[in-house]
Amino acid sequence: MKISIIGTGYVGLVTGACFAELGHDVICIDNDASKIQALKKLQVPFYEPGLEEMVRRHVRKGRLSFSGQIAHGVRKSDVIFIAIGTPPKENGEADLTGIENVVRTIAKSMRSYRLIVEKSTVPVDTGCRVRQTIEICKAKHVPFDVASNPEFLREGQAIHDFLHPDRIVIGVESAKAEKILRQLYAGIRAPLIVTDIKSAELIKHASNSFLALKISYINAVARVCEAAGADVERVAEGMGMDGRIGRAFLDAGIGFGGFCLPKDLEAFVRISQKLGYDFGLLKEAKRINESQKELFVRKIENSLWNIKDKTIAVAGLAFKPDTDDMRFAPSVDIIAMLQQLGARIRAYDPQATGKARGLLKDAKFCRDIYEAARGSDCLIIVTDWDEIKKMDLKRIKKLLKQPIIIDGRNVFEPSMLKAMGFSYVSIGRSQ
Ligand code: UGA
Repeated sequence: MKISIIGTGYVGLVTGACFAELGHDVICIDNDASKIQALKKLQVPFYEPGLEEMVRRHVRKGRLSFSGQIAHGVRKSDVIFIAIGTPPKENGEADLTGIENVVRTIAKSMRSYRLIVEKSTVPVDTGCRVRQTIEICKAKHVPFDVASNPEFLREGQAIHDFLHPDRIVIGVESAKAEKILRQLYAGIRAPLIVTDIKSAELIKHASNSFLALKISYINAVARVCEAAGADVERVAEGMGMDGRIGRAFLDAGIGFGGFCLPKDLEAFVRISQKLGYDFGLLKEAKRINESQKELFVRKIENSLWNIKDKTIAVAGLAFKPDTDDMRFAPSVDIIAMLQQLGARIRAYDPQATGKARGLLKDAKFCRDIYEAARGSDCLIIVTDWDEIKKMDLKRIKKLLKQPIIIDGRNVFEPSMLKAMGFSYVSIGRSQ
């Protein structure tokens, strides 16, 4: 099939490359000319394992191409996916101005039947707005359908998640739209849930908010564990073995970050409010998440006594491993709080340094974790990259001024670090 994807961010580009992998002809479109220029030179503007290689392969095969023109994509394709960003407005609502503009341009360019699919995470009822806007802007007698097909890709594992999803959700209004979307995903073995558009839109917000809730729940349990002298890792293990609960997203730590969970949680609270429901449960999840960062800074302060004029080695900056994404990364707030208290920062991240430079003022960026540790008063673990989990602890101990590690991701066994002579503090475990 011939597909256009509008928006070449994480979602758009991964979706485009993966549809090409499934054998479809794909045009990825963006209004950012420099992005399209770079992509035409086969440069992917962010780090996602395996993506650049996949893009190169399908461009060479002629299955994947790039364009700055929506009209070009609409002319050449049967299906048009909208995968542009929906950044948060100041009040937490999703800003849909970009989506509206794209929809108008699509409508004006349509000459025969097209299926327009929402891929971006949008508030429930956006599908109706999209349909109304197309009706108003398109030429008379041009048939079309609107559908919702939310994505559940995790950064860092996006290609795997696309090709081996837990489920594919499609929200449709016609049998024709359903048939086209079934055909598009025919190459993927996964349960396909067909529903109305509003339910599909809600599945995405409800899922991300639930994941956020699960993380905040275990972080709250971690507080109780600490106070009681229990171990949150064992508690999560025991809870997770119950098939109804599951172990995933029960890792206590410094809280969730990234461009999806915090934004979608906030947006879902706003959507519910607009619909007349006060989603207090989600507001509390947000409050707990914010307080995890403050708790972590307090733990650092307790370990160092005074933070002023101390040098702190920061292991990991990205909001999670296997990505260079710094958007809403907990590291940004944590480092700002430490600097406010007078600390000097020596930071290391395997991939995110480039993006972190603009965000973290007055931090020294190091080549590796050992350079960061050299002469520092303690080391704090912020992102649990494999490389960080595998660091040479004996070497770290020699390099640090004092053998203190404060671990925001519970990477190590406390007994092991204590036996090595470290003062080791983590989350939700008796210290
Ligand atoms: C999230 C969802 O997991 C995807 O299903 C969804 O498609 C995506 O948002 C999206 O809406 O586009 P992502 O933002 O890539 O994916 O990251 P997650 O893997 O969900 O992690 C989010 C944050 O939660 C990270 O900061 C991570 O460190 C933290 N986290 C995760 C925990 O603190 N504890 C856990 O147990 C799991």
